[in-house]
Amino acid sequence: MSIDHDLDPAQLRRLLGLVEHDTGADPFPVTGWDAVVWVVGNAAQTALFHRLVLGMDLVAYSGPETGNPDHHAYVLRAGEVRFVVTGGVAPTSPLHDRHRRHGDGVADIALEVPDVDRCIAHARAAGATVLVEPHDVADAHGTVRTAAIAAYGDTRHTLVDRSRYAGPYLPGYVAQDAPALGRPVFQALDHVVGNVELGRMDEWVAFYTRVMGFTNMAEFVGADIATEYSALMSKVVASGDRRVKFPLNEPAQGRRRSQIDEYLDFHGGPGVQHLALATDDILATVDGLRASGIEFLPTPASYYEDPALRARIGEVRVPVDELAARGILVDRDEDGYLLQIFTAPIGDRPTVFFEFIERHGSLGFGKGNFKALFEAIEREQARRGNF
Ligand SMILES: [Fe+2]
Repeated sequence: MSIDHDLDPAQLRRLLGLVEHDTGADPFPVTGWDAVVWVVGNAAQTALFHRLVLGMDLVAYSGPETGNPDHHAYVLRAGEVRFVVTGGVAPTSPLHDRHRRHGDGVADIALEVPDVDRCIAHARAAGATVLVEPHDVADAHGTVRTAAIAAYGDTRHTLVDRSRYAGPYLPGYVAQDAPALGRPVFQALDHVVGNVELGRMDEWVAFYTRVMGFTNMAEFVGADIATEYSALMSKVVASGDRRVKFPLNEPAQGRRRSQIDEYLDFHGGPGVQHLALATDDILATVDGLRASGIEFLPTPASYYEDPALRARIGEVRVPVDELAARGILVDRDEDGYLLQIFTAPIGDRPTVFFEFIERHGSLGFGKGNFKALFEAIEREQARRGNF
C-alpha cells in the first residue's frame, strides 16, 4: 500500500494562508516543515494513538529489529504532516533522561531547507548555537544532508535537505506497510507555538528574525490576551511564504499564575506548547475526535450568544449553532475568518496540546478568541488545583 501524502500547492495555500516569497534573497530559506520529533514515555502506544485517533499512517520505523537497540522511532504521516514518535528501549537510552525532565513533548521541530550549509553558515554568523555540524547520511536510497541548531529550552531545529533521498524517512529507517487504522483528521501543520520564560519572548523573536530571516507577523500584548486573573504576551514570527509560523508566548503579570507559568513548571522550562493542525472540515475533525474520546477545552455558551461577538463573526460557512454544538471558535479579520478549537493537554503533564484550525482567508491566530479561550483554560487549571 502506497499513499501519496503530498497536497497540491493550491490546497496548501488555502489551508495555511501562504503568500508569495522570493527565496533568492533569503539568507536562510526554509521550504517547509520536515518533521516534528516527539520524545514520549511509551512510543509504541503513542504511535498507535496517532494511528487510531488522529488517522495517521505508519510509514517507517527504527528500533531493535532494524539495528537500533537504543529506542523505538515510529514515523507517521497525515497529509503534509510528518511526526516521529520516539521512546527509549534500552534502560541507558538518553531519551529516558529527557522524558524524566520534560514528560511527553516535542524535542525537535525539523525544517526542510534547500541548502543546509548556507543556513548553518548564516546561523553561526548570527550567533546561533550549532548542535550538529552539516554532514551527509546515506544508504541505498540516497543521501540526506543535515545539521542542527539549538532553539528555546531543550528544543532543537534539525535542518534537512532530502532532495537527493528517496527512502521513507532517513537512512536507518525501514519502510512500513501498515494498514490504516483511523480516518485522517488533518492535512497540514499550520503553526507550532513555543512557551518561553518571563522576559525572554523578545529575545526569541529576535533569534528567529536574525538567524532564520523570519518576519514578525502579528503581535498580541497585554490586554489582548489578558483575563481578570492571568495574562500572557505573544508574538508570531514566520518564514517568507508563511509556511512555517512560530508564535512565542511568555507569561505576563496577572493576579493569578498564568497558564504559561503552569506549563514552564510542569515541562521543566521552555518548550513547545501547542501544534496547530490544519483541516478543511473542522466539523468532521471534531466529530471524529470526540467519537474517539478526545477532550476539547469547553467554550462557554455565552461565547455564541454575546451580540457583539455574534456581529463580529458575521457570515461563516456553517450555521453558528453547528459551531456552538461542537465548541468551535470563530475569529475574523480584514482578510477573512478562521475556525479553531483546542484540545486539553494530550499527555499526563499539563503541557503540550493540539489546536485544529480551518482557515478561510484569515492569516491570524484567533486573537479575538484568546480571552474566551483563556477563561476556559483557567477553569481547567483550577480543576487541577494549579490556579
Ligand atoms: Fe495556535
